Amino acid sequence: MTEDTIEQNILAFADEALALTTGADYWTTPAAPGLGIRSVRLADGPHGLRVQNDENPDHLGLERSHPATCFPPAVTLASSWDVDLIERVGQALAVEARAAGVDVVLGPGLNIKRSPLCGRNFEYYSEDPLLAGMLAGAIARGLQSQGVAACLKHFAVNNQETDRLRVSANVDERALREIYLRAFQIAIEQSNAWTIMTSYNRINGTYASENSWLLKTVLRDEWGYDGVVVSDWGAVHDPVGSLKVGLDLRMPGRPGDERVRRAFAQDKLDIGVITETARRMQLLAERTAPQDASAEPDYHKHHALVREVAAKSSVLLTNDGALPVSISPGLRVAVIGELARKPRYQGAGSSRVNAIKVTNGLEALAARVEMAGGSLEFSRGYALDKVAQSTTLIEDAVAAAKRSDVTILFLGLPDSYEAEGSDRNSIELPANQLELLKALQAAAPKTIVAMSNGSAVTTASWRHSVNAIVEFWLTGQAHGEAIADILFGDVNPSGKLSETIPLRLEDTPAYLNFPGEHQNVTYGEGIYVGYRSYDARRQDVDHPFGHGLSYTTFDYSALEIDVRPLSDEIAVTARLLIRNTGTRRGAEVVQLYVHDHDDIVITPPIELRGWHKIELDPGATETVEIAVPRSRLEHWSSSLNAWIFGGGTVTIHVGSSSRDLRLSETVSLPGDPVTAPLTTWSTFGEWLDHPVAGQRLRSLFDARGGLKGRISDLLSDEVGKNSVRASPMVSIAEFPGVPIQPEDLEAICIEARTV
Ligand code: GLC
Repeated sequence: MTEDTIEQNILAFADEALALTTGADYWTTPAAPGLGIRSVRLADGPHGLRVQNDENPDHLGLERSHPATCFPPAVTLASSWDVDLIERVGQALAVEARAAGVDVVLGPGLNIKRSPLCGRNFEYYSEDPLLAGMLAGAIARGLQSQGVAACLKHFAVNNQETDRLRVSANVDERALREIYLRAFQIAIEQSNAWTIMTSYNRINGTYASENSWLLKTVLRDEWGYDGVVVSDWGAVHDPVGSLKVGLDLRMPGRPGDERVRRAFAQDKLDIGVITETARRMQLLAERTAPQDASAEPDYHKHHALVREVAAKSSVLLTNDGALPVSISPGLRVAVIGELARKPRYQGAGSSRVNAIKVTNGLEALAARVEMAGGSLEFSRGYALDKVAQSTTLIEDAVAAAKRSDVTILFLGLPDSYEAEGSDRNSIELPANQLELLKALQAAAPKTIVAMSNGSAVTTASWRHSVNAIVEFWLTGQAHGEAIADILFGDVNPSGKLSETIPLRLEDTPAYLNFPGEHQNVTYGEGIYVGYRSYDARRQDVDHPFGHGLSYTTFDYSALEIDVRPLSDEIAVTARLLIRNTGTRRGAEVVQLYVHDHDDIVITPPIELRGWHKIELDPGATETVEIAVPRSRLEHWSSSLNAWIFGGGTVTIHVGSSSRDLRLSETVSLPGDPVTAPLTTWSTFGEWLDHPVAGQRLRSLFDARGGLKGRISDLLSDEVGKNSVRASPMVSIAEFPGVPIQPEDLEAICIEARTV
């Protein structure tokens, strides 16, 4: 049925159209046969299907769901910085969704990691909006390439779990635009995501599902979004008000709630609103229409993909040469840590997948070591629940370490430490694991740590007591193989941190304002999130944003910056040579950061504006090119209420991390100089410096006997003049001796604007 037949038939089938505004039940929407719209099925989650029997649904991952491939969660995918790889994950996830009759996958989650304490950080991509938006856009493209809708969530500013159904995130508009909404804007540009999910929380006092500024002004009017806006489960409190501002689908279904029908019957809900929703639901049903030859999932292939992605996303944090482990006959390996036997490979909550299979580190490592003629023993090391450490466990582990040539220590956060619905209160490892680390310091000749955690854990207190640390994050179901592939060198690690790992919780930007209190949280740090904050405060960190080592090394040279003309949507293109100066093939993520020397708005020291991942054979050299769209250089001006970039001096840095900038060049970019419109509240200095107003003001002073009195004295005083120039013009005009009337100011303002 075409769009205009929706219009023609909407009144005849008004009941059906009204029913479309909420689900038929927990996971499906009603059909509207009179409008030619079929029912669609929605299902979690971002890194694997969670489809349940409809008789006993839940949105917290409590009940069992049908077996599916458990892919690595966003925290891991993000560390790959590999758009193409992540798109492949989206395609595979969609094949499983299609086979299960699912039309909309409720993911990716792309909320910004404002604090490492957020319990759902494992489901999110980054502290940087460009990285988060590009990578979330990639998985969304992958999903939709198979005719399955992605659902960008949670729109917006859902950066904590504490009190998430009530809390108001109070954020200034610049931080909203440049940080918290920006990732969604980029993901929509990258994928035209067919659905987006409103978050539970309030934004500056108004619930996201009912927030006209968010859903109508920004999402619909400014971004031109044509997809379906679906609520988080239970996030709608005013179903009529939500519809009016652009929410289409309230979930879970509340077909018995008469409020929408009653409002429509009482002419309190316009037919146009219902028509728009019906149109968007029709578009969604058409976009996701089951394709004839939907491929049957190849779960072996998907498991292999999990293994590939998890290995390529692992981040080698430190390495004194202990890695990769070369397994020689007779090598004695000690594997220590309960997480080696009971792997932590995904997060908890609505995204939890009933994994088709899961491999653990102990079995995977044992198979490899023993096959190569080595020997391996295991020791638990610690318990996963929050009980105090046991001396027996420690003594046993120390003894095993002493008997080994190399100890592989599995550490990380057990399920209970981070989950949907709750936030952490520490960024340390569990106390019993720290105790074990201390005891092992003198025992093992060589210790390698394999970390499994969904959000940042500081290594500050123990990193120097071990030989190497690999952050595997949450690997998905191919846990054991991925870890073995990296530790034994079958795969050369190439992951980079998509979030800063701080030294101390107190150093984190949101420390004083997380998680807020009395249903309010203030984003006092503004745009200074993640590395933007640590850099601006010149703070040391445990491991910086963009950091990740390799088993090889790379050399950067011959940086050239091509400044494009103003008419070109690309502002600059950076070209450089990258050489693999090591002995192994490896991949490097070349990162491009920009320092904007502009003084119209304050800007962080550097901001990520592009990157390129490249794989090179030993000794090979290739040219890397990174183009920076002009729009990426813009900042939000709250005084002008607009995105601005006026050109001027910028420094382009390229490097291996935000704190390992290898080459830089400062250039001048063309641009339309941005000046704030002159008003009577502009400063006296802005008036005097304005090309029109300054001249008019001086001629009025001259014609009226000149500027006299205190203002004249101060203006001619070297120290006093700054305070006078910084005063609003309306205040200056009030002073005796200033021969200016309010009507003069208004007239000059009009004249100045017409220039
Ligand atoms: C949950 C989550 C959301 C999920 C939805 C359906 O509360 O916040 O991410 O997709 O409900 O389970």
